[in-house]
Amino acid sequence: MTKEDLVRALNADLAAEWGTVIRYTYQAGKSFGVLGTELREMFRKEVEDELGHAAFLTDVIVDLSGEPTTVPKEFGKPEGLKAMLQVDLEMELKDIENYRMHAKHAEELGESELKVKLEEMAADEAGHARELRRLLKGL
Ligand SMILES: [Fe+2]
Ligand SMILES: [Fe+2]
Repeated sequence: MTKEDLVRALNADLAAEWGTVIRYTYQAGKSFGVLGTELREMFRKEVEDELGHAAFLTDVIVDLSGEPTTVPKEFGKPEGLKAMLQVDLEMELKDIENYRMHAKHAEELGESELKVKLEEMAADEAGHARELRRLLKGL
């Protein structure tokens, strides 16, 4: 694990965050009915968290002398609220896994503040995943 490997890993995380910002904004626009109204609120609230994550990763990548990506990760666009939320849950779980792994990489390189921040971001995504599981239970 070199500093360049860490920058590459953090850029993959950043692409995922940009993708999530777009996905939640898109999904808020595609949420209809009574449940849709509740979902729109959740998506809007979570977009703020994801934007915070994206801003943090951008600053860290610049600080590590890397070039932060502005290209979002692709995401599926299934029809219907349930399928949509299942995509979100899968992607949040993937993000948790990546942040935990990259926190270990940061620790290996002696980047202890970054390690803690990545673990906190994994915890934020775990909160999002819990919220999604709650919603999916009702569907
Ligand atoms: Fe995030
Ligand atoms: Fe999230």
